[in-house]
Amino acid sequence: MNHTRLSVNINKVALIRNARGSNLPDLVKVAQDCEAFGAEGITVHPRPDQRHVRFDDVPLLKKVVTTEFNIEGYPSADFIELVLANTPHQVTLVPDPPGVLTSSEGWDIDKEGDFLTKTIERFRAAGIRTSLFIEPRPLSVRLAKSVGADRVELYTGHFAHDFSKDPVKAVQAYRETSETARELGIGLNAGHDLNLDNLKYFKQNTVDLLEVSIGHALICDAIYFGLKNTILMYKNLLS
Ligand code: PXP
Repeated sequence: MNHTRLSVNINKVALIRNARGSNLPDLVKVAQDCEAFGAEGITVHPRPDQRHVRFDDVPLLKKVVTTEFNIEGYPSADFIELVLANTPHQVTLVPDPPGVLTSSEGWDIDKEGDFLTKTIERFRAAGIRTSLFIEPRPLSVRLAKSVGADRVELYTGHFAHDFSKDPVKAVQAYRETSETARELGIGLNAGHDLNLDNLKYFKQNTVDLLEVSIGHALICDAIYFGLKNTILMYKNLLS
């Protein structure tokens, strides 16, 4: 079975910091500690309202992240500028309208094809890998490939929602979509609502999963288990 990297999404840490207007907890230190504890990537999702990770956090993180730096977001003009100025290893494009609480659907690539092709080309020219956040459908992987994406990130919200009722059914579309990604030679990431209960099953029932990015559940677990233990627990589920 292939290795799946754990990228820790630190948006929730920034949310706590922002609650008091000071620098506690220190986001840069938390990112460094996550890496020291075994995280294989750091993910940030600077949203237009900057209620989590802010745009001005990005250059500071870029300086210290030694694993894989992944910036997610809607490709507005200022987001594209931020990514090009900070050259992360990967940019993950999500179709979020401004103000949404969290990403809850993948791209409609049919509708946004020209825009995505041009945007991905700009990132490629800067040496940045692009991943597209998509629904678990083989057709979405084909379309992602046709607009030039290097990877897709499967939106795992539906899987997480249905997992406790019927895990076999919950993972079926993800398994099929992962097989299509393998056939087409496009890299596969996944994220959203993955947690200590559902992650192992997801990993075992998809093929060639390269990376998961996990934020909300992991930071909640860290309240009980501590950040170091929690990162090790998630990594164990992937090994
Ligand atoms: N992937 C994308 C595109 C996201 O927007 C998010 C949430 O910011 C995640 C993954 C991580 O989801 P969660 O916080 O539920 O682990």
